Amino acid sequence: MSGNAPCRLAVLVSGSGTNLQAIIDCIESGELTAEIACVISNKADAYALTRASRHGIPAVIHSNAHFSERSSYDAATVEILRSHKVDLVILAGFMRILTDTMVHAFPNAIMNIHPALLPSFPGLHAQQQALDYGVRYSGCTVHFVDCGTDTGPIILQTVVPVEQDDTEETLSARIQKAEHHTFAEAIKLFVDRKILVQGRRVQILP
Ligand code: GRF
Repeated sequence: MSGNAPCRLAVLVSGSGTNLQAIIDCIESGELTAEIACVISNKADAYALTRASRHGIPAVIHSNAHFSERSSYDAATVEILRSHKVDLVILAGFMRILTDTMVHAFPNAIMNIHPALLPSFPGLHAQQQALDYGVRYSGCTVHFVDCGTDTGPIILQTVVPVEQDDTEETLSARIQKAEHHTFAEAIKLFVDRKILVQGRRVQILP
């Protein structure tokens, strides 16, 4: 981020993009002072692309199909991000694990949202994992991205109760509501330069 220019975000997606929509809404309502420089999808049919175009946000389909190496795909992603002068990379349902090519290009400047209270239930089907385990509370976690699967320093978490009759769908829907405001809050902290990372621990400055 330079001077008083608004923080430039890239939102990386693979699917429906409800988190992208929540970020767009916060920017449009003035709650968040930032600009979405580009949306990047690895899936040509992601509904998130439609959301981007409705709001006049540049969108790039960046398919991984033609890359045999994960790191060469990531190197190409870094080029796109650099060309859009991105300050903060947001993984909003982007269904790929990043290599160190990406992680080292944006140190402590890539955020992911995970639908569980990490370090519990990393990886896929986190909501079903929580139900199968029988926890009373789950939630969502916004964390910086490192080279592991959902292992980076935790920025914010929101707790969501698990109800007796929950299914994967009903629990996912409740968690997703929490995701939308938790992600926006974490991005706002970054934009306001209120995040200090010390090893694994993230301090929120007053
Ligand atoms: C969210 O549940 C998020 O936790 C996970 O992927 C999902 C993306 O949903 N990482 P959406 O595309 O933002 O609707």
